[in-house]
Amino acid sequence: INPYSSTYFDALPNCVIVVDGKGNIAHLIEKLDVTSLELQKVLLTQIGLLDGTFTLVILEPGEFIMPGFVDTHIHACQVPNLGVGGQYELLDWLKYYTYPTESKFADKNYAARVYPSIVRRVIDSGTTTSCYYGSLHFDATMLLADIVRSKGQRAFVGKCNMDRNCPPYYIEPCAQVSLETTKCLVKHIQNLPQSPAGEPLVHPVITPRFAMSCTEELLTDLGNYAKANPHIAIQTHIAETQQEVENTLKLFPDCKSYAGVYDKYKLLRHNTILGHGIYLTDEEMKLIAERGAGVAHCPASNFYLGSGMARVRKLLEHGVKARGFSPDFSADAYRLSITQVGLGTDVSGGNNPSILYTIQMASTTSKMVEILPNEGGKKFDTAMLLYLATLGGAEVCCLQDRIGSFERGKAFDALLVSVRDDSGNPAIWGYNPGRDLTEEDTPKSAEEMLKEWLERFFFCGDDRNIRQVIVQGAVIGGQEFQG
Ligand code: GUN
Ligand code: FE
Repeated sequence: INPYSSTYFDALPNCVIVVDGKGNIAHLIEKLDVTSLELQKVLLTQIGLLDGTFTLVILEPGEFIMPGFVDTHIHACQVPNLGVGGQYELLDWLKYYTYPTESKFADKNYAARVYPSIVRRVIDSGTTTSCYYGSLHFDATMLLADIVRSKGQRAFVGKCNMDRNCPPYYIEPCAQVSLETTKCLVKHIQNLPQSPAGEPLVHPVITPRFAMSCTEELLTDLGNYAKANPHIAIQTHIAETQQEVENTLKLFPDCKSYAGVYDKYKLLRHNTILGHGIYLTDEEMKLIAERGAGVAHCPASNFYLGSGMARVRKLLEHGVKARGFSPDFSADAYRLSITQVGLGTDVSGGNNPSILYTIQMASTTSKMVEILPNEGGKKFDTAMLLYLATLGGAEVCCLQDRIGSFERGKAFDALLVSVRDDSGNPAIWGYNPGRDLTEEDTPKSAEEMLKEWLERFFFCGDDRNIRQVIVQGAVIGGQEFQG
């Protein structure tokens, strides 16, 4: 519940969440000490939290709800390539696998065939908010936005801007066309139906693929367009491989750093989402923190393509230091001055569309970084992993006031998770605390059990444990979903 914490979370065994008709959290009672169902109803009605018709859902042992996953970086148009090409490094992988695959989305019928099942799989993996990269095509990406909206997922959808250093069959003809199609897509997305809460569910995002694929003219145009539209998010890649950094600095000789390129073109700001950030220098981290931009940590991709390991603690510390020890920082300044970090699957640079798998890879990355000489940085605990997968991601896409944690007034974007065994026992894969305790065992408190369920879900769970995926109060996916 704690709104800004990457070090702490509440596990509440007797919590009641009341969701209103618009799908927002109307009330949150941290502890309701009444066990009888009837008494609970009476009590909740008496204290005025329930009125008229309502559905009461009581969780069984082994079940819990948690905030939905936020994937801050995923290429929907690369899913057809999932799990192939990992022998290449980034730039060859783009050339031999990715550009050929993305170019197929020139055919709208192909997009119409594959995008629905792609979005379905992403949702059923527990991702309630996705930051999608489409291909460079207007029609196919418009379709992607429509499909995402029709399935009820919260998302950002952008088409790639790319007008140089790409193969002739997969490149935009000029900066002007790239900008104009981007504007059309933004308009289309802004006209999609709003959520029951009266706000957009799908957001546009300006998506210069990466500096290397954009001419100075295109970056200038996109920067000016972004400046005129400060509320539109921006997403791109940064410092993913050393070769990419080298090539970028050659293409922009007047810029001191990779981050400096985006800054020069007014593309580095509070709602910019930077993918990867493995090879950022201290100066670049400082600049990114000053601009308030966020980083999508993509550990599965960073291993799969052999790109390297991001220094996530260092990224976070750049902000934490800036505010944590300064008594005159307001809450807003506090929020704006940090480098925020969320998780990205980066499909299909990442070989799995699930944030659960990404959590495991983030944990592994943190353990590897910890044992490297001169790196320091403690490995991540459950609280940090939970933060990165939910609230950190929400902060990265500037939705921390709406999603990422359970708080009164926020949207109810949630997962109903079950770690019960197949026979329905309140057991976790063979271990039943009620049945299997021996005299020597110290019984665990309900809170300790709950924390253990979460940890087990993170490290040995998968889609089968995700019974319901809920966005804005509506079930849109999961094992129980029939739609
Ligand atoms: N850099 C430029 N394009 C891409 C892409 O599609 N995936 C990844 N991982 N990095 C990129
Ligand atoms: Fe990517």
